[in-house]
Amino acid sequence: MRLFLAVFTLLLAVYCKGDQVLRIHAETEGHLEVLNELKQNRGLDFWTHGMSTHLPIDVRVPHLSLYAVKYLLTANKIPFTVMINNVQELLEKEKEEMMSNAAMERKTKSFNFTAYHTLDEINSWMDTLVASHSKVVSKVQIGNSYENRPLYALKFSTGGENKPAIWIDAGIHSREWISHATAVWIANQIATDYASERAPVPKILGKMDIYMLIVANPDGYVFTHKSSSPFYRLWRKNRSVTSDPKCFGVDLNRNWDAAFGGPGASEKPCDEDYRGPSANSEIEVKNIAKLIESHGNFKSFITLHSYKQLLMYPYSNTGTNPPDQVELDTIAVSASKALSSWHGTVYTVGSIFNTIEQASGSSVDWAYNRGIKYSFAFELRDTGKYGFLLPADQIVSTSRETWLAIKYIMEYACDKS
Ligand SMILES: *[C@@H]1O[C@H](CO)[C@@H](O)[C@H](O)[C@H]1NC(C)=O
Ligand SMILES: *[C@@H]1O[C@H](CO)[C@@H](O)[C@H](O)[C@H]1NC(C)=O
Ligand SMILES: [Zn+2]
Repeated sequence: MRLFLAVFTLLLAVYCKGDQVLRIHAETEGHLEVLNELKQNRGLDFWTHGMSTHLPIDVRVPHLSLYAVKYLLTANKIPFTVMINNVQELLEKEKEEMMSNAAMERKTKSFNFTAYHTLDEINSWMDTLVASHSKVVSKVQIGNSYENRPLYALKFSTGGENKPAIWIDAGIHSREWISHATAVWIANQIATDYASERAPVPKILGKMDIYMLIVANPDGYVFTHKSSSPFYRLWRKNRSVTSDPKCFGVDLNRNWDAAFGGPGASEKPCDEDYRGPSANSEIEVKNIAKLIESHGNFKSFITLHSYKQLLMYPYSNTGTNPPDQVELDTIAVSASKALSSWHGTVYTVGSIFNTIEQASGSSVDWAYNRGIKYSFAFELRDTGKYGFLLPADQIVSTSRETWLAIKYIMEYACDKS
């Protein structure tokens, strides 16, 4: 009987491929100690970065470790719930939808905004957008990635030299697919609003240029499409070789030249928030920084991430308020109200330090320190039900509501420029 049971358990482990995402609620310092210990285990994928008693901690646990991790949590009386019961099931559904949609798009030569797309599909969609709105959009290559893929930004401009500008990027973290999809939808909206003279886009573009880098980390993004196994799909970092031959990639949002190397980023190449060997060491970060610095007239910097439904401003590396805190907070509150007006989605507003955790080397701190006052970071939907695996049927509603907030920020920056 015992042998039978052992064999049965083993078979279950082999056949049940489902990782789970657990939401853990640390209640005491002792709990945090246990969790920090657990974090040293490379097999676990922490979806939230802060480790505190006031925010839940989401962790993807490989199916083989599930029993041990749940046992450890229970033994230490650390409360947890299962957020995602079977990650593999979601991954397979997502992959299936993408493939059938891609076949449909090839057949009908159309682009479906309610679907996730590969890098090639996004690049070819950009060409279509530029071709049909050539008076206002062009594609600019701002450099290449580590694996030598072009970094293409869309430039919205009605002409003129070095006008005040707005920067929007998405996809710095490759697994945050909703950020790329939202940026695609918004780019299309800017072009069509301009064409149909829908306010306030013509006013904004009369005075400012808008740059959008939809896939800021193309190597990572391609990697997330390689297979529907969590190892690929849930890749966060870039794909560069590091000093540890077993571990790839740098966290591009810990690599900026802003308090680089301070607390809130890891110096260990195997960690998810590895900062890289030096500030701006990563070619993707270097290229964006170069463009923004040489342009010299950016007024607003917006970066799209997921998930948690947060609208944040600097700083991320310190709890000290930035000089413009009151104004930035007022803008963020109004922008998140505009966002909620669409579907009632609720966002939390605050500095990155106060809403998530201390993070050094982040892009908004860098931008703000460069004098780009209206610097904001979004963490898009959801609050954890699906996390990084937000179903495609939420792309359009997420995009629409996010557009209302971004439009508010852009118009504000325009009026002040
Ligand atoms: C768009 O893609 C989604 C899946 O992501 C699919 O459910 C939907 O039917 C597609 N729409 C069209 C018009 O093909
Ligand atoms: C990624 O990380 C490495 C450092 O480990 C860096 O040299 C490289 O330029 C970065 N960019 C990419 C995409 O790999
Ligand atoms: Zn992110």
